Amino acid sequence: MATSTQQSSSGQTWSQRFESALHPVVAQFNASIGFDIELLEYDLTGSVAHARMLAKVGILSEQECEQIASGLETIREEYRKGEFNPGVDEEDVHFAVEHRLIELIGAGGKKLHTARSRNDQVGTDVRLYLRSQIQDIRQKLKAFQQAVFELASQHVETLIPGYTHLQRAQPLSLAHHLLAYFEMMQRDWERLGDVLKRVNISPLGCGALAGTTFPIDRAYCAELLEFDEIYHNSLDGVSDRDFAIEFAGAASIIMVHLSRLSEEIILWASEEFRFVVLGDSCSTGSSIMPQKKNPDIPELVRGKTGRTFGHLQGLLVMMKGLPLAYNKDLQEDKEAIFDTVTTVSGCLEAMTILMQEGIIFRTERLNQAVAEDFSNATDVADYLAAKGVPFREAYNLVGKVVKTSLAAGKLLKDLSLDEWQALHPKFEADIYEAIAPAQVVSARNSAGGTGFDQVRSALSRAESLLQ
Ligand code: ARG
Repeated sequence: MATSTQQSSSGQTWSQRFESALHPVVAQFNASIGFDIELLEYDLTGSVAHARMLAKVGILSEQECEQIASGLETIREEYRKGEFNPGVDEEDVHFAVEHRLIELIGAGGKKLHTARSRNDQVGTDVRLYLRSQIQDIRQKLKAFQQAVFELASQHVETLIPGYTHLQRAQPLSLAHHLLAYFEMMQRDWERLGDVLKRVNISPLGCGALAGTTFPIDRAYCAELLEFDEIYHNSLDGVSDRDFAIEFAGAASIIMVHLSRLSEEIILWASEEFRFVVLGDSCSTGSSIMPQKKNPDIPELVRGKTGRTFGHLQGLLVMMKGLPLAYNKDLQEDKEAIFDTVTTVSGCLEAMTILMQEGIIFRTERLNQAVAEDFSNATDVADYLAAKGVPFREAYNLVGKVVKTSLAAGKLLKDLSLDEWQALHPKFEADIYEAIAPAQVVSARNSAGGTGFDQVRSALSRAESLLQ
């Protein structure tokens, strides 16, 4: 559609400066409407606030402002009914709205863009979008924590081998193990709250880069949109994407946590561990091997973690060479942000369901697992140390006992009292009780430890954090 000036199909002219139309491939390449339509409702809300501010300072009459606001609300209704479907000709969501507004209300619509640029406009939209999404993700984090809390509450006295280097180390309360994830998610929730502070700052009124000649009231706009503050430097306001990087960073850390849990669940469900059975509502079958039950949810979460890291990296690299202020490179922030939101939200939802109904712990097998290893060896050393034997000496002695027991095919609990006393005269009959798995766990009653009393107070702490 080459005309004497460059036009989109809706007739919008960039400016009389252009004499020929965009090459169709270039138009397609340049357009963001295919994805930034996601911002539509935020764009409308931002524009209503901008119009109200223009009326407040006398740039628009009250009547012009009302006409614009109602035209914008009409577009919102059309969109919700599926009747607003702008194409590539519109370039982006901002132009699409402006063109439709002019179609709907006529010349009055042409005043809306006074004292504004798409640069401060898009920055406003993205922040409004992220603010809402972060609030939603924080709720999903709480739902996940609630599910972890409930599962943990059922398993205070269920024991599970604890590992370091993926070698059996010391037995744990299963609740203690699960609550470690509760704590990670608590930090994630707090971190997102912190990110929100930097998201909730208004760039509106920074103009293209330098501010505007009009007597605008940026604080009023910010107040209408419930921003906490305004950007104090217009160049920074239109070109800052720190908040998006921070969000992608916080989202990546959430994914690290979900991915670690996923890895554990995948291991636990294997024939080698046999710690959990996966519920039918949360596992899938094989198309060829009828015996299989696959842990697809945690595998997908582990897999999706990579793409979230990718978005963080993408945003960092996108920003690193940008001269001030706005550059079109910044259009690339949107798909990264949107996909990060979708990915983290989806993973949190799926993992919450998995925790609620998808994981059945094999308590008998777990309790038996901790009774058949040497993970009580530290407790033998601690037993002697508590009786005055220097810890390092006790440690060396127990190392020797483990070696000879292994050679004899025995566990520590199988040694006779004579054998214990031959090793060290301080051993008495109460050694058997001291190395029984439940006692070994119960005794680790230091603050934040796995002792049952500690775990019970951790559960109360968790409960109050959920309220
Ligand atoms: N679609 C653009 C973006 O997402 C909107 C801002 C365009 N600004 C401009 N100066 N071309 O970044």
